[in-house]
Amino acid sequence: MEIFDLFGENIIIEQQNEKNKQLRSEKQQIKNELHKQKRKKIKQQKYELIQTLETQEQKNEYVHSFKGLRNQKRENGIKSLQSPFKIIIDCGFEENMSDKEQRSLARQISELYTENRKIDGPLKIYVTNIYPILHKYLEQYHYKQWSLISDERLFTEIEELQLANIVYLSPDSEEELLEIKEDEIYVIGGLVDKVIIKNATLNRSRQLGVRSAKLPIGQYIKKNYKKCLNVSTAALMITGWLKYKDWSKAFDSVVPQKFKDQEAEMQ
Ligand SMILES: C[S@@+](CC[C@H](N)C(=O)[O-])C[C@H]1O[C@@H](n2cnc3c(N)ncnc32)[C@H](O)[C@@H]1O
Repeated sequence: MEIFDLFGENIIIEQQNEKNKQLRSEKQQIKNELHKQKRKKIKQQKYELIQTLETQEQKNEYVHSFKGLRNQKRENGIKSLQSPFKIIIDCGFEENMSDKEQRSLARQISELYTENRKIDGPLKIYVTNIYPILHKYLEQYHYKQWSLISDERLFTEIEELQLANIVYLSPDSEEELLEIKEDEIYVIGGLVDKVIIKNATLNRSRQLGVRSAKLPIGQYIKKNYKKCLNVSTAALMITGWLKYKDWSKAFDSVVPQKFKDQEAEMQ
């Protein structure tokens, strides 16, 4: 009887797993279909816009502007790999994140990659400590095709980073980051914590024996709001500083005024 119960239980678990798998696959199919429809709509809109242009010259110019943008992104991707300015997204926080937060991390990394390719001086990005579930979520964005360095190892194990001056960015650090330097590499915690985990990256930097620093943004965020940006925004603060050489302008450029107070809730 006991054996029968156990056997029966296993069948129920297997059926449930199968059902979940099927549901996930159906969800993905719907997502793909929506994406396809969106692309079709954009294509249609472009076509309609071209029809409103009067001369062939105007039409050619319009088409070239799209091709130019695409080429520029591709070129910036290649440029980023040669950039002297480097950042690392350290994804070693699996234990601290829910499934939803891990999906959000993958999305933020994808957003950062997209934004970085749009700017003139793109950063060289390392995404390290990629673990299997994060790999699965990043795969949805085809990250293996991106112009960045992705690695399953901890950044301290990657040869070319071993001799670098590493600065771990942590909102809880005592030290303020004054400027971005070419000979320093900045680490961003690949951590999405809806409920803030205090000292998570500060402790990690101490364990790894690397310097830590906080972004000097306290004065730009309203009182009572947390002084903590999300992963992609923190990384874009670096590109903002490189552009303006000024933290206040960098902050304004990556965190628009209307979001300033909401950034705390945007995670
Ligand atoms: C959502 S935050 C995670 C905050 C987390 N509680 C921690 O201890 O780092 C994501 C990452 O962005 C960077 N970051 C966000 N705000 C920062 C700040 N004010 N100063 C320095 N780094 C910051 C950090 O690297 C941080 O790990």
